[in-house]
Parts: sequence; structure tokens; C-alpha cells
Amino acid sequence: MQAIQLTTFGGPEQLFLGSFPTPKPSEQEVLVRVEATALNRADTLQRQGKYPPPPGESPILGLEMAGTVAEVGKGVTKWQPGDRVCGLLGGGGYAEYAVVHEDMALPIPGGMDAEQAAAIPEVFLTGFQALQWLARLQAGETVLIHAGGSGVGTAAIQLARVMGARSMVTASASKHAICLELGAEKAIDYREEDFEAAVLAYTQQQGADVALDFIGAPYFQQNINVLRTDGRLILLALMGGVKTEQLNISSVLRKRLQITGSTLRARTLEYKIALAQDLFRFAWPLFEEGTLKPIVDSVFDWKDVAEAHRYMEANRNVGKIVLRVS
Ligand SMILES: NC(=O)c1ccc[n+]([C@@H]2O[C@H](COP(=O)([O-])OP(=O)(O)OC[C@H]3O[C@@H](n4cnc5c(N)ncnc54)[C@H](OP(=O)(O)O)[C@@H]3O)[C@@H](O)[C@H]2O)c1
Repeated sequence: MQAIQLTTFGGPEQLFLGSFPTPKPSEQEVLVRVEATALNRADTLQRQGKYPPPPGESPILGLEMAGTVAEVGKGVTKWQPGDRVCGLLGGGGYAEYAVVHEDMALPIPGGMDAEQAAAIPEVFLTGFQALQWLARLQAGETVLIHAGGSGVGTAAIQLARVMGARSMVTASASKHAICLELGAEKAIDYREEDFEAAVLAYTQQQGADVALDFIGAPYFQQNINVLRTDGRLILLALMGGVKTEQLNISSVLRKRLQITGSTLRARTLEYKIALAQDLFRFAWPLFEEGTLKPIVDSVFDWKDVAEAHRYMEANRNVGKIVLRVS
């Protein structure tokens, strides 16, 4: 099969399209003819050699895909060749064929094409895990979503809305309109405004119940400061750095804060199956009726994968960058 590969770790110019052995489905797996995959920040880190795939996973980039089942393992009961599926992968999405456990494959919601469906798995699973499983977000609560215009951010805004919560986001100004359209009540331009002051002013000094963070160290103190009593901080990435020089943690005690972090890729298969099935029950009826939607910023032909990586690294996307696999 054809797959996007790396000559060596480094910049986007290291990516090339070439032949690679087609994976074989094991007993519980299906082989999918991939029609579309989507970019994630993790791909850019893996390309640089900073985020190796977990043991046993494909060395090929790509954490999600959508396409058509081509072959099924002997023990598969849920799917047959010709079924249209999308799903989260541990790797291997930038390829003509990918294997996925039958319980991780989800049907492409009615009416969607593969390019839209490929934009669902990683960001909706991550947002759902963070808001529902980790933060236990309740209706009526307020959540601060950093990087609101990111793939994960645009999914999280929508999920918070359908969970009955109010959301505020930080994002560069050009991304505010879509965040507000998706359901955020307040958008903060973190380049121009201090987000801590803006959140406290907007909430009449009450603060947020939950903060979803991807920036890490530079935001840590302010995140603690903007949480209200019994608040929860969920760390999903460390794009801004890992070390805080000075930290005042007194409010962790005083406000009974909970701080946790998670990476989805490192979770066990059992955990990911349970999460995928829970998201399926929760979100698929909402995708079917159009209440939730994947936000596709742009679609690149996979031959232009280097350009797609540069576009993401320039922070130009709002929502997902999709690769059409031909
Ligand atoms: N823990 C997990 O399980 C998990 C799963 C999926 C993704 N993630 C992480 O979630 C984050 C979002 O992923 P994504 O694929 O949705 O990203 P994305 O679409 O590429 O969006 C990232 C956005 O973050 C904003 N940003 C703010 N500060 C930044 C900084 N210091 N460096 C780079 N970008 C900054 C930029 O938007 P502005 O123009 O608004 O600044 C940028 O466009 C990534 O860090 C990713 O690794 C974590």
C-alpha cells in the first residue's frame, strides 16, 4: 500500500509518500480502506521524534481515519466488508489501509462523508473524556476552554453546550467568531487581555468550575486562580512549557481544587473502547440530527501533507485539517 513516511525525524519536508506493507487484521480487528485522515498536534511532535508511538503501534503517523471496511478478522462480529466506519487509531492513519479493533470502529454518522467523519474521533473523544469522565462537568457549570479554536477546543465547546454548561474560551481574535457560533459565551484574546482578569470580570468574580488546558506551565498559576471552590483543572497538553518557577498553591487547599492530566493515546485498549462506546451513545444521535458537527478547517490532498503540517504549525487552522487519502 501507499503511506506517508519519514526519511528521518525533523521538519515537514521529511514526509514522503511511498510503499509500506499493508497491515493484516488480527482476530478482533477490521482492515479499513482509508479515505480520509486528519492531523493532530501529536503528529507534528511524532514527526520531530518527540512523541514515539506506544509499543506495538504502527510507526506511521495518523491517529484517526474514516473509510470502508475491506476485510475482517476471524472473530469480528460487528462489521463486514463495505461498512463505512471511522475511528481512533494508535497510529497508522496516513496510509491507504489501517487496522482498528472492531469495538473502536464507529459507524460514519448518516449523511457525512469520510472527510467530515475523519475529523470526529480524536477531538471528540478527547473533549468528551476531559469534560464528562475527568471533570464530571455538570449542567449549569462554567468551563474555561483554552485554545478554543483548536481541533479539541472546537469539539469541547460543542460538548459543553450540549451538556448544559456555559463556556468561555481563549483564542487569537480571528478565531473568536467560530467559537461563539459553536456555543461559547465569551471569547478572550489572550494576546491582548489577561485571561484571569477577563474570566473573573465575566463571572462577577466567581470564576470557572472547570478549566481545560493545553498550554501548561505559563497558565498554571492563572488557571488555579480562576477556578472557583471545588474547581477542576484538566491538563491535556503542555504547548507553552513544563516548568513553573514560582507557584502559589494555597488556593488548591482553600478552594479544594482537583488537578489532573491525561493523554488519550497512552490509555489501554479497554479504556479506549469504553470511552468510544460511551461517546457513541452520547454523541451519535446528536451528530445524526446536526446538533454536533465536526469542524473541518481545510482538506488537503495527502500528497500535500508537508504543506498541511506547516499550516498547523503556523496555528492557522480553526478546527480540523483533513487529509484526503487517494
Ligand atoms: N491529552 C490528550 O489526550 C490530547 C488529545 C488530543 C490533543 N491533545 C492536545 O491538545 C492540543 C490541541 O490539539 P489540536 O490537534 O486540537 O491542536 P490544533 O488544532 O493544532 O490547535 C492548537 C491551537 O492552540 C493555540 N495555541 C495557544 N498557545 C499555543 C502555543 N503556545 N503553542 C501552540 N499553539 C498554541 C493556537 O491557536 P491560537 O491561534 O488561538 O493561539 C493553535 O492553533 C494539542 O496540544 C494536542 O497535543 C491532547
